[in-house]
Amino acid sequence: MNKKSFFNVEGLNKSFAGLKAVNDVSMHIETGEILGLIGPNGSGKTTAINIMTGMIKRDSGKITIDEHNIGDMPAYLVPVYGLVRTYQTIRLFKSMTCLENAMMGAIGVGIGRRAASEIAGELLEEVGLGESIGLPAERLTFRDQRLLEIARALAASPKFLLLDEPAAGLNEEETDMLLSLLKTLPGSRNIGILIVDHDMRLIMNLCNRLQVLNYGRTIAEGLPKDVQKNPEVVNAYLGSTAS
Ligand SMILES: Nc1ncnc2c1ncn2[C@@H]1O[C@H](COP(=O)(O)OP(=O)(O)OP(=O)(O)O)[C@@H](O)[C@H]1O
Ligand SMILES: [Mg+2]
Repeated sequence: MNKKSFFNVEGLNKSFAGLKAVNDVSMHIETGEILGLIGPNGSGKTTAINIMTGMIKRDSGKITIDEHNIGDMPAYLVPVYGLVRTYQTIRLFKSMTCLENAMMGAIGVGIGRRAASEIAGELLEEVGLGESIGLPAERLTFRDQRLLEIARALAASPKFLLLDEPAAGLNEEETDMLLSLLKTLPGSRNIGILIVDHDMRLIMNLCNRLQVLNYGRTIAEGLPKDVQKNPEVVNAYLGSTAS
């Protein structure tokens, strides 16, 4: 039996020049499950991830993984405590090889180069990039760059993985491939996933639970089939993204 870990966010707040980008948001994820964080453009999803990973400072709120208070940690330490992310806009070291990029995830949590290289190699195989191991990241297709970001994140052996729009720019077939990969991770690696995406087919097929933000506030949470029918959610978001 895998040991469970818990990621907890309580009462998170962040304002930018008077605009409440994140307004009293709480969130709970345990290892083995996938939470979908959805909501209209500008509703605070990326800002919430930026705060959780220490990239921007919150105004108030508590962020913990098990007994560790990660809210006040510098961003470079957050992965060491088991929380990693990918980016809405891909951030890779373009001229470095896939292997070197993926190794960075492991090196970032203090793993030595030799072990990092082994971990990275295995992960690249797992995400389907085994053939591209020696290619510079900039030579990869857009889809493969997204997969490389995921491999790099996994190389840190996280307990929790935050994915910011991993399907953005992918076609239906590519998104299905991503879906199959992501589905396996909670079981195979005992991790909890938070995924932000506007692709409702992906979200509905992948997530155990959903949480919906609107103007920085949580307006609904629960099982996907229930949240999908919530009139406030339909009105604020789903009604306008029926495509
Ligand atoms: N660094 C910043 N400075 C000022 N305002 C910001 C900053 N970052 C985000 N905002 C504002 O905070 C709000 C929330 O933005 P955020 O990027 O978190 O939305 P989002 O839910 O990720 O949207 P999308 O679905 O378009 O990615 C927006 O009004 C945005 O303009
Ligand atoms: Mg965003």
